[in-house]
Amino acid sequence: TETALPRITVIGTGYLGATHAICMASLGYEVVGLDTDPRKIERLQSGEVPFFEPGLPELLAKTMATGRLRFTTSVEEAAAHGDVHFICVGTPQKPGMDAADLTYVDASVTALAPLLDRKVLVVGKSTVPVGTAARLTGLIKELAPAGDEVELAWNPEFLREGFAVEDTLRPDRLVFGVASDWAREQLEASFRPIIDNDTPVVVTDLATAELVKVAANSFLATKISYINAMAEICEATGADVRHLAKALAFDDRIGGRFLQPGLGFGGGCLPKDIRAFASRAEEIGVGQAVSFLREVDAINRRRRSRTIDLVREMVGGQLNGKKVACLGAAFKPNSDDIRDAPALDVARTMHGLGANVRVYDPAALDNARRAYPELRYGTSAMDVAADADVVVLLTEWTEFREIEPSALASVVKHRRIVDGRHALDAEFWRAEGWEYRALGMP
Ligand code: UGA
Repeated sequence: TETALPRITVIGTGYLGATHAICMASLGYEVVGLDTDPRKIERLQSGEVPFFEPGLPELLAKTMATGRLRFTTSVEEAAAHGDVHFICVGTPQKPGMDAADLTYVDASVTALAPLLDRKVLVVGKSTVPVGTAARLTGLIKELAPAGDEVELAWNPEFLREGFAVEDTLRPDRLVFGVASDWAREQLEASFRPIIDNDTPVVVTDLATAELVKVAANSFLATKISYINAMAEICEATGADVRHLAKALAFDDRIGGRFLQPGLGFGGGCLPKDIRAFASRAEEIGVGQAVSFLREVDAINRRRRSRTIDLVREMVGGQLNGKKVACLGAAFKPNSDDIRDAPALDVARTMHGLGANVRVYDPAALDNARRAYPELRYGTSAMDVAADADVVVLLTEWTEFREIEPSALASVVKHRRIVDGRHALDAEFWRAEGWEYRALGMP
């Protein structure tokens, strides 16, 4: 006889939670998504995804039609529904500090636990400092009427923005941090269709599961800063980081992915995760082990100022009064996310230096406008490039890669371009009469 599928609740319907809820419902589970923000819930319930993610709106429409998915602000409703409760709330950087802010994680557990009166599994998915699960286990046991019956597990999430659906339904691996066989069985039942798809599962303890996530993001950030450090050396020696990266990538022990030099990493994950990890390691007395992450962060920040240096050099040493067209605002293409976006950081700094900056992005303009009303925005690449002294490519959207140098030449004042992402064919642009500069190449 087939055991019934566990009923799932997802707490927090931001980027991670909304994707998780929709994908789980698409796999056949009965899912309730919970959030404290009534506007988010209203939009999701009416079939609208409140952020940009390719493929997700279609999947939401499809799953809403099955009746297996609903969204609510009622924690009572969520608690009554779920056999397995996924915690998917944000863990942003604490303002002015490196540590992670666990306010939302703690608040969701504090709200949910007192309503747990039967044996259920609470599963943390949020990225947290190691040791958080152990602390929350204690909190749940203290607050839940079902006491020891309620268990906590940790199941880190590795999805990338822009590929969220694909990464959730076909992940590279699943990591189950559990304290008992029962918890492992519950997680297996919650991911059955994905496991049956030959997805590797690593079963481990809670602390290891918490660590896998920050270790993975730290590795990725380190890889990016490594190639960007090599770019700095190239700049000092006349070497070409594009060829260097290509040659390294042929060694499949190194691999070519996340070896794209340029403006460096941003977003709501990599920057804050490496800082929180370094900070947590210091707290527990092993700061030295990951002190290199401070360097990874510093290299990454230098790419932003060095990009501005290139622009400044190109316009003759002074940004003041120069018209600068910024192509891109999102932290990466196929996203409207502007959290710690290198593109906007560069645009704002140049604005602060007196440049006449105009920004265009295919998806992130609304978010950018809201966060930085002091900047000026345009409706297309051609629009912001009109009469520009210099064009700066900051996010490698396909639509920017496909720009014809001759078309752009017809609107700018000077044919000067800084390619912050090595997204364009340098030789071709130069042949078309453009002064082309990029980090790490002559
Ligand atoms: C990252 C991880 O890749 C995911 O595995 C993880 O689940 C997620 O964080 C998270 O913790 O939630 P994401 O922030 O969506 O995903 O973006 P990435 O694709 O990792 O890109 C991060 C930044 O690195 C972007 O600003 C991108 O432009 C930059 N990057 C990436 C480079 O500068 N060079 C590269 O070679 C690759």
